[in-house]
Amino acid sequence: MTKLWGGRFTKETNKLVEEFTASIEFDKELALEDIQGSMAHVQMLSDCNIIPKDDAKTIQHGLQVIQNKINAGDVEFSVAHEDIHMNIEKLLIDEIGPVGGKLHTGRSRNDQVATDMHLYLKKQTEMIISLLTEVQSSILIKSKENVETILPGYTHLQRAQPVSFAHHLMAYFWMFERDKERLQDSLKRINWSPLGAGALAGTTFPIDRAQTASLLGFDKIYPNSMDAVSDRDFIVEFLSHASLIMTHISRLSEEMVIWSSQEFQFIELDDSFCTGSSIMPQKKNPDVPELLRAKTGRVYGNLVGLLTVLKGLPLAYNKDMQEDKEGMFDTVKTLVGSLKLLAPMIHTMTVNETKMYEAVSKDFSNATDIADYLVTKGLPFRQAHEIIGKIVLYAINQDKYLLGLTLDEYKEFSPLFAEDIFKLLHPKHVVGARKSEGGTSFEQVESQLALADKLLYDA
Ligand code: ARG
Repeated sequence: MTKLWGGRFTKETNKLVEEFTASIEFDKELALEDIQGSMAHVQMLSDCNIIPKDDAKTIQHGLQVIQNKINAGDVEFSVAHEDIHMNIEKLLIDEIGPVGGKLHTGRSRNDQVATDMHLYLKKQTEMIISLLTEVQSSILIKSKENVETILPGYTHLQRAQPVSFAHHLMAYFWMFERDKERLQDSLKRINWSPLGAGALAGTTFPIDRAQTASLLGFDKIYPNSMDAVSDRDFIVEFLSHASLIMTHISRLSEEMVIWSSQEFQFIELDDSFCTGSSIMPQKKNPDVPELLRAKTGRVYGNLVGLLTVLKGLPLAYNKDMQEDKEGMFDTVKTLVGSLKLLAPMIHTMTVNETKMYEAVSKDFSNATDIADYLVTKGLPFRQAHEIIGKIVLYAINQDKYLLGLTLDEYKEFSPLFAEDIFKLLHPKHVVGARKSEGGTSFEQVESQLALADKLLYDA
């Protein structure tokens, strides 16, 4: 088949080479962005009197026809035309005749593909930001219902100090808030327009880069044409932010797997979010959080993959850069799918307040509070720590918890103990006492929720 670039060739392309170098199988995803970029380019060519106005109109009309056909699923792309850019140009020429060949004036596929990627990531980034907001809102709703639900807080996965369940969940709210900030910040750079950089050095035509940038909604122009066509930093940034979002999703998923286990029973995932076993009739498996945890791996892989492609590439465009796409598409798909599941999974889970409370009642997570008690009676914290350590050891040997010891037993360890110690030891008191800013006391959690509310709904 004749190639659009076939002029200097005397032989047909080897079929295996054609298949190996083609990207149409995956970059067809950029079809609409490609047309959007071409529409702006041709408008500019016309306004700058680089091509006749009538030709521009014909081209724009042809592009519109192709867009409609693509939307209707009426277009067959071909590997012989390598990628989405050449495929669309070929379709255009078939549609409107040789005048379609004027579209590529003053442009190269190198600035064209970069433009498409910027347009694509801009749209996806904005969508992902709004999906993150949905997850945050789901967390916020669950948290509001669980301010007074108490569960053990862990360090080293050993019970440490009791916390409000809302406080625990809200930790994820703030992770996703930072994720949104990062994505928002990356939009500044996604909003640079590479269009008009040509193959690498600019063009001999009197183009207006500011016009195409503004038609496409970009607010800045790459000041260096070589940078414009070789920059894939904005994709690396996206993959890196996506990796961090997946880290957060994965940590939360891991907690959901643990919490829903028979050993914990802190939550129950909704039946509609679980699957069964083909052999063990009693099983209800948390497949969704497990897969969310696992899918993190492919997103990290995509990040490292692209970094590795870019490392050591000389300026300017190299075909290597075609490898930037599949990992990016896969990341968008994985991330969007994960976020869409996460919000309703949180929303529909049942919180088992009783089990959580049982756990904090049968542990030593109030030990710090007795140490703090002795400190308020004047003992240096280090000495108090030592004494309480001994009390904990004594209680373990007696098969008791701290609330089960008598005042006499306490007095054996220090004369500073008095009856008021017991009211301090109840989990609710332990949680309520942590009133320092950002702590788990109920008032602090309430003000955290109010802050989050404001962020989500008052913007
Ligand atoms: N399919 C190519 C890519 O994704 C488009 C740019 C091709 N440019 C070139 N000079 N071969 O990178």
